[in-house]
Amino acid sequence: MGATDEEPSDDAAVPPGAGAPSGPHEGETTSRPGGAGAPRDEAEALAALAALEREISAEKKAATRAAADNTAATAAAADKTAATAVAAEPGPDAAARPEVAGPAAAPRTASAPGKAPAGKAAEARASGGKAATPAPAPHPYIVEFDKVTKSYGDFTAIRDVTFKIEDVPNRGEMVSILGPSGCGKSTVIRLIAGLAPQFPATRGTVLCAGEPIRGPGPDRGMVFQDYTSFDNRSVLDNVAFGLECRGVGRRERHDRARHWIQKVGLSVKSDADKLPHELSGGMRQRVAIARTLILEPRVILMDEPFGALDPPTRTRMQDNLVALWREQSPTVFFITHSVEEAVYLGDTIFIFSGSPGTILKEVRTPPPTKPSLEMQRDPEFRDMVFEIRALIEKLESSSRAGD
Ligand SMILES: Nc1ncnc2c1ncn2[C@@H]1O[C@H](COP(=O)(O)OP(=O)(O)OP(=O)(O)O)[C@@H](O)[C@H]1O
Ligand SMILES: [Mg+2]
Repeated sequence: MGATDEEPSDDAAVPPGAGAPSGPHEGETTSRPGGAGAPRDEAEALAALAALEREISAEKKAATRAAADNTAATAAAADKTAATAVAAEPGPDAAARPEVAGPAAAPRTASAPGKAPAGKAAEARASGGKAATPAPAPHPYIVEFDKVTKSYGDFTAIRDVTFKIEDVPNRGEMVSILGPSGCGKSTVIRLIAGLAPQFPATRGTVLCAGEPIRGPGPDRGMVFQDYTSFDNRSVLDNVAFGLECRGVGRRERHDRARHWIQKVGLSVKSDADKLPHELSGGMRQRVAIARTLILEPRVILMDEPFGALDPPTRTRMQDNLVALWREQSPTVFFITHSVEEAVYLGDTIFIFSGSPGTILKEVRTPPPTKPSLEMQRDPEFRDMVFEIRALIEKLESSSRAGD
């Protein structure tokens, strides 16, 4: 908290009177099955996030105390704290032409160097500057699914979903997920978010940075398919909500919220004090995105975030997302029904089969090098979109034929 922040922090895990954020408003459409669960999920996720934040902060204090004693136990605790740090700026990607790989394709490199500087700093702190036993190498994958199946009674939503997303230092992966309605796309990202009833999986393992997922956590932020807002809170307080859950004081959280309101293309002057019902669908979506990004999670899970936007707003939001992704370098999972959007945003595209969903193909695509509109005019980009459309049709017809 800043030195000038004299206001008392609201320490409640979920701020009093916050209630649950509301779902879509009249006139909005959503294709999400069982959509009524999402608003409560967000409140629950944020409450769990606050609890975890407190746990991490307690660990941090313990690590600092132990560092003074220069004990061996310090290294592990300090490293765990350092692992929550957000990576620095990304570099331009070297990927040239797309490669098409099989479902269980190997990652681009066998071993990533990981976040060595953070580990080294923690090690140095723990040893009081003296040489210490090197910390174990960071886990090379940020998210791993191994033969993950989710069933509800006799119905299987996803079957044997297997993939690994490399934890690229200073540059997160952008993973687009394409697939027919009901194939389990939301199930996959809600399993990563740790949100019931999709979480836990019926079979298989889901790991984040090598650790089994136990529920929602501050390292993973979700933008829901039916973007949600707290009706009784202003835009400013909606964006600041997660910081409030973390006990950040009013002045600091409002300053940071104003910064994010601007970043997602809303006006601090004219929009910050509005209530959600005074906003358009696109504006509410930006509020939902700002509320997630303000917390700088390591993994961002976006469930058709731009589905309800008009085309110009959608391309602007795609550009915004690319800019924010370059700044924060999180790993992003992005569900969409638009092949253009998947090709533009994704480093990797997972093409899912119809229900029960499984990954039919993993396709590598070049990173966005130009604004979305310009990219869409590019002949190479159009060829790529065409290729992927043809591939989806081929995969769908062969999976219907049982090949
Ligand atoms: N709680 C639940 N109980 C039973 N079935 C469920 C539940 N939640 C989801 N399903 C089913 O699991 C399947 C996958 O759902 P999911 O929401 O993941 O699909 P999706 O690919 O995201 O679809 P869409 O593109 O329409 O959003 C669907 O058939 C859905 O009806
Ligand atoms: Mg869905």
